[in-house]
Amino acid sequence: MAGKRSHYECQQCGYQAPGWLGRCPDCGAWGGLTEVRTASGASPEGARAGRTGDARPASSARPMLLAEVAGIGHRCIRTGIGELDRVLGGGLVPGAMILVGGDPGIGKSTLVLQAAGALARQGLTLLYISGEESLAQVSERGRRLAADAPDLYLAAETCLETILDHIASLKPAAVVLDSIQTTSSLALESPAGSLSQVREVAGRLLEVAKRQEISVWLIGHVTKEGSLAGPKALEHIVDTVVYFEGDRHQAYRILRATKNRFGPTDEIGVFEMGSRGLASVDNPSALFLAERPAHAAGSVVVATLEGTRPILVELQALVSPTGAAIPRRVANGLDFQRVAMLLAVLEKRLRVGLGASDVFLNVAGGLSVREPGADLGVVAAVLSSVRNVPVEATCAFFGEVGLGGEVRRVAQSDKRLSELARLGFTRAITAHRAVDKIGAGAAIAVGGLSHVGELADLVLSAGKMRFD
Ligand code: TYD
Ligand code: MG
Repeated sequence: MAGKRSHYECQQCGYQAPGWLGRCPDCGAWGGLTEVRTASGASPEGARAGRTGDARPASSARPMLLAEVAGIGHRCIRTGIGELDRVLGGGLVPGAMILVGGDPGIGKSTLVLQAAGALARQGLTLLYISGEESLAQVSERGRRLAADAPDLYLAAETCLETILDHIASLKPAAVVLDSIQTTSSLALESPAGSLSQVREVAGRLLEVAKRQEISVWLIGHVTKEGSLAGPKALEHIVDTVVYFEGDRHQAYRILRATKNRFGPTDEIGVFEMGSRGLASVDNPSALFLAERPAHAAGSVVVATLEGTRPILVELQALVSPTGAAIPRRVANGLDFQRVAMLLAVLEKRLRVGLGASDVFLNVAGGLSVREPGADLGVVAAVLSSVRNVPVEATCAFFGEVGLGGEVRRVAQSDKRLSELARLGFTRAITAHRAVDKIGAGAAIAVGGLSHVGELADLVLSAGKMRFD
């Protein structure tokens, strides 16, 4: 059609080409290039510049001295949902754009509707846009979650331009877009959910967010490959990226910040899904240890650090003989590469033969632990299972293990020790160097190791894993 122009764009990496190609020359994905047509005949960027009438973006007057500019801390609005505020770095910052990712059915809409209700009850005007559910469904759910408040507005809408009109007329303090994949702009002809649409919608809402200081929550589904649609394109645009993790069939959900311009990343929030929505879990360590079996070989407790908070988890290992040519290695909730490295350390440095055994590792409760502080626990759990010797129930581990088998100090030993003391543990095993640093002031008895070999010696010589 006259006046329309098009190019082709890779849905995986965003590479653009003037004509169609079967394989993306940039990322190598097959069949990923789709046609992107702009209705105005100009590129989306051109259309955006045209809207403002000047290609130059509006900027704040003059450069200012650092000391002159007020911080954002005092403007943070607490939602009142404890675990959510923690993950956001204190609360909601006006003008911030937050991306909430996760598998379908994990609880994204529930959490954000609860947050919207809590904010609206503080007297803020909230606009919740649902592109997936009808107004009746959302309001029904809102009532059940006790999220109804006088200034919480709902709209079932998928057209970006209409949404922008709603924002202009309502002037809300925050907008929820549920979801980014169902919203599309008239400026592009590609379907909703395509990379170019996702980028266009996020980009135009960002302009509004920053210009009018409106906080925007974008809900995004995770694709089969495990990333958000248009992953990199969105993650660098927004201020905060939070992911909902956990098993849809379990009651516990973990919210993790993977990027946060307003607070620490890697902070996690723990929630329990019930009949009245998501409730904050204030004592996650107690929750993760609740079903720990007594005196079971292969089960150890690890004091891990998630963001700024110490959390105790139960780590389970099961090592069993196999007839398979290639033994199985399964690591649920742990980094697979890291586990492979630790098993190699066990084989090479401690001469523990694992070549004819399947090794299964699991973090109980659905938390995924990505911190090297869990290394010593992995080694202890595998050793305990191999030797079929249980670990003392009131003893826990933390420490990084190097390729030489050396045990290294990890951050924030004191916080981990106080959490152990709070939950009734009497002994912690960690790096020798950490013990020197902790000194005599530790909340519980601390045993120091400089090499994982000392751990094995204890198991083998005593016939029981004791550390006194
Ligand atoms: P939802 O927030 O719709 O997930 P998402 O937006 O991430 O797709 O959550 C859906 C699941 O949560 C669904 O399986 C039902 C469950 N749920 C409860 O158990 N209790 C509740 O109060 C609500 C609202 C949902
Ligand atoms: Mg939803």
